[in-house]
Amino acid sequence: MYKLIRPLLFSLDPERAHDLMLETLRRSYRIPGTAALIRSVYARRTPSLPVWAMGLQLRNPLGLAAGLDKNADCIGPLADFGFGFLELGTVTPRAQPGNPRKRLFRLAAHEAIINRMGFNSVGLAAFTANLSRVRRTCPLGINIGKNRETPEKNAVDDYLLGLRAGYPVADYMTLTLSSPNTPGRRALQERDNLAVLLGALKNEQHIMARAHAHYVPLAVKIAPDLDDAEISAIAHLLIDHDVDAVVATNTTVARPRVEETPLSREKGGLSGRPLRYVATHVIRELHRGVAGRIPIIGVGGISNAADAWEKILAGADLLQIYTALIYRGPMVVRDIITGIRSRMVALEVETFAQARMAHANLPKPDERGTTTG
Ligand SMILES: Cc1cc2nc3c(=O)[nH]c(=O)nc-3n(C[C@H](O)[C@H](O)[C@H](O)COP(=O)(O)O)c2cc1C
Repeated sequence: MYKLIRPLLFSLDPERAHDLMLETLRRSYRIPGTAALIRSVYARRTPSLPVWAMGLQLRNPLGLAAGLDKNADCIGPLADFGFGFLELGTVTPRAQPGNPRKRLFRLAAHEAIINRMGFNSVGLAAFTANLSRVRRTCPLGINIGKNRETPEKNAVDDYLLGLRAGYPVADYMTLTLSSPNTPGRRALQERDNLAVLLGALKNEQHIMARAHAHYVPLAVKIAPDLDDAEISAIAHLLIDHDVDAVVATNTTVARPRVEETPLSREKGGLSGRPLRYVATHVIRELHRGVAGRIPIIGVGGISNAADAWEKILAGADLLQIYTALIYRGPMVVRDIITGIRSRMVALEVETFAQARMAHANLPKPDERGTTTG
């Protein structure tokens, strides 16, 4: 079905195509029978692969990454694509328009996107109102950020506003520290800033947990543009502050393997296939650093089951996609889950941790040669 509409969508300006797609999904869901049809084509045909992570039970480990449903107004259709969970947002405390258009670019030959959206958001009040109207069919994460006009020294206040508003309606929450499109954002990843932010937010999380009598996990989303020492320092901070999960990674300011494309000179964060190796490297280093103590949500350039499996072997406990959904359509969810499941059956394992161990114990190609030869 998506193969038929993709040429039309790709003939439009990318942001216009995005808005049109979400609007069409929303409107069609008002027609009786549409939801059941989408569900039967996608979600019902996605094999079950239940996982536990962050204290949540998910029907499968593949989630929608933040940024596609920034305003929490397309939850029903996106859940019916078969995702195990959806991460909504980034939402900022007050509504803001984001950067001027054009701010979204397709690098189609690379199945990549460059965006400099700059956290366009309806703001927390409208976001939570949207959320309160939907029937939930899968766990929902809320990704929170800060308003552009909030000075960096007051960033914590914006995150606290997000946490307080989102906590009662979220299954987990994510702090985005890593957008390349908001000035100063990456400074938040610097050690001292991050320690202050995490201290304040974990403290508030405990206050909210007592007030609401339930615990909502708190994840941190990081950039891929970090060296190994920085990744290791972040891993230690996350452990010290008892952070519940880490999302790795956001888009990259680097331009790996796309330099020949004129659009690669556009400012912003690159996502999709060219991000794959960079994100996998960050996941591998993080996994080394957190040593299984903090679940890793692996995201960046996953387009098929083999890419997903690469992230799992590198240390991911859950996965997310965004750009592949644009290039390959909703069927990509089922294809990825089917492929992960068949790899687990072949290895005779039930968890990703077992898969990593089993894979590490497989004979390497040269060893295999000696045993059989
Ligand atoms: C158009 C666009 C907008 C995005 N907006 C956000 C956002 O608001 N917050 C966020 O944390 N990540 C955002 N992201 C990053 C994605 O969540 C994801 O981390 C990144 O695209 C890498 O995954 P992918 O290669 O599967 O797309 C955005 C990505 C794209 C392409």
